[in-house]
Amino acid sequence: MVSYKDLGLVNTREMFAKAVAGGYAIPAFNFNTMEQMQAIVQAAVETKSPVIMQVSKGARNYANATILRYMAEGAVQYAKELGCPNPQIVLHLDHGDSFELCKDCIDSGFSSVMYDGSSLPYEENIAITKKVVEYAHAHDVTVEAELGVLAGIEDEVSSAVSHYTKPEEVIDFSQRSGCDSLAISIGTSHGAYKFTPEQCTRDPKTGKLVPPPLAFDILHEIEKRIPGFPIVLHGSSSVPQEEVDTINKYGGKLPDAVGIPEEQLREASKSAVCKINIDSDSRLAMTAAVRKHLAENPSHFDPRQYLKPARENMKKMYIHKIVNVLGSNDKL
Ligand code: G3H
Ligand code: 13P
Ligand code: ZN
Repeated sequence: MVSYKDLGLVNTREMFAKAVAGGYAIPAFNFNTMEQMQAIVQAAVETKSPVIMQVSKGARNYANATILRYMAEGAVQYAKELGCPNPQIVLHLDHGDSFELCKDCIDSGFSSVMYDGSSLPYEENIAITKKVVEYAHAHDVTVEAELGVLAGIEDEVSSAVSHYTKPEEVIDFSQRSGCDSLAISIGTSHGAYKFTPEQCTRDPKTGKLVPPPLAFDILHEIEKRIPGFPIVLHGSSSVPQEEVDTINKYGGKLPDAVGIPEEQLREASKSAVCKINIDSDSRLAMTAAVRKHLAENPSHFDPRQYLKPARENMKKMYIHKIVNVLGSNDKL
């Protein structure tokens, strides 16, 4: 049993309370590689932002659970080395799909876990979330739950359509499950193709796809029922057009990729939404930089030559999100 406290990590409780009161959101960045971890820490330190480093089941399969945990411990030490004496870093399990997985993460040093029972019947979702909460709280670990289903792929949980969260369920769900934060569905979804071209309109000037707006009316209804309760938005990459264009210019093929407009995420950050999940934008920033570098430098084969600009590009994106979208800068 390893306690996250011994690794210098923190849970989300105080972080979320401050974010809700302060009208900003904490960035939750997924990581699988050392370069992502370094870029996240550099960005958080330079902007004096708290940060959630999250690990999916897929990341555990890719990078090995033990290595990721040591990387998070290394992230705390790295932040200190970069001049941040008191970093606020959460190590979070993203889309945990069983009590056993959540327990395994809690036992190995995670400070926060998500139990995603959103695809289960309501009562089953409550029952398993509650079981996770009881175990987690005994170790002072915080728990994110999910109510409502996002369109697209949620790790191995797949759903072709989006079922918005029903505001009338949130009081009962949060009270009976005991969760510390609630991920809701208001029109975001995972990946780089959040909307089909048919769901969008075209900007007549640029020809680019304009997605339908998020369901802010549902968000406000939820906030009214559980005032101040920490709300989480998954699937919140904005899929920057310039990264998509770079990827396509240098041999990639991402036609009609479309994300959530940043103005809407900025607006959401000012509400009870206090955690915003971003993964795809990091993937796009990395891939764009790698493709460009290799196309322009065909003789290069040392991974450091192309991973360095990839890391720089991800860091630039993380800083942009923190400062210009979520507003979590200057909070340490
Ligand atoms: O919510 C999904 C995250 O983007 C993680 O994706 O399961 O491919 O690691 P992954
Ligand atoms: P994106 O695919 O929009 O980056 O969402 C990531 C996410 O929700 C991770 O849980
Ligand atoms: Zn997610």
